[in-house]
Amino acid sequence: MKVTIQKLQQWKQEKRPIVSLTAWDYAIAQLLDQAGIDLILVGDSLGMVALGYSSTLPVTLEDMIHHTKAVCRGINRALVVVDLPFLTYQTNISQAIKSAGRMIKETNADAVKLEGGYPGMIETVSRLTEIGIPIIAHVGLTPQSVKILGYKQQGKTIEAQEKILNQAIALEQAGAFAIVLEHITENLAIQITKTLSIPTIGIGAGNHCDGQVLVTADLLGLSEKLPPFAKPYTNLRQTILDSVTHFSEDVKSRQFP
Ligand code: KIV
Repeated sequence: MKVTIQKLQQWKQEKRPIVSLTAWDYAIAQLLDQAGIDLILVGDSLGMVALGYSSTLPVTLEDMIHHTKAVCRGINRALVVVDLPFLTYQTNISQAIKSAGRMIKETNADAVKLEGGYPGMIETVSRLTEIGIPIIAHVGLTPQSVKILGYKQQGKTIEAQEKILNQAIALEQAGAFAIVLEHITENLAIQITKTLSIPTIGIGAGNHCDGQVLVTADLLGLSEKLPPFAKPYTNLRQTILDSVTHFSEDVKSRQFP
């Protein structure tokens, strides 16, 4: 049974944690879907994971469409959500409608994720949901604002906590069906999770969100550098390096084929 937005809402009520991971191609998407991951995010972190950039900022709409099409071809069950990349939705609402509309029409994704909770973004979320495009919001550390925020934990002062909580409330009121809370204090994540009726999906936001998301390359030990909240469950970098070296040695010594 395909995961729906309504199912996510139901799981929040039932306190059944929502499991989410990122995917950037067909093979990874197929494996995550087979493992029963509920929500697969084609994050713009693919800029670092798959394209070799040092941040998400250079990622284009065409990059995201290309990768999301591949991911969607590997999915039967999971809800697929795609990030709109930097400067493809912040200019004005018309730009956001065009970019989000292309994602939905061209890729088969179920929803779009947007970063930020400032007044302009609340309006954008409201307009997009009004025309039928489901939105996941994203507050706290928003990597598209790296040049201002860095990769530091957000919501450390009372004022910052109030600001993020108010943004989350406004995004829910604007129609977002879920919200990613990235790298904020656990207490703030608890407060937001209790206050909102939509599911919160945490990444570096403690253990009390309605769900958890990780960048799959971090979980698999493929990333060159890990954020402090990531947990590698295996070391695929080493496994791949060992296998490739072994193959190379076998070819040179005529053990293969
Ligand atoms: O781009 C991404 O992978 C994300 C996650 C960190 C939530 O936005």
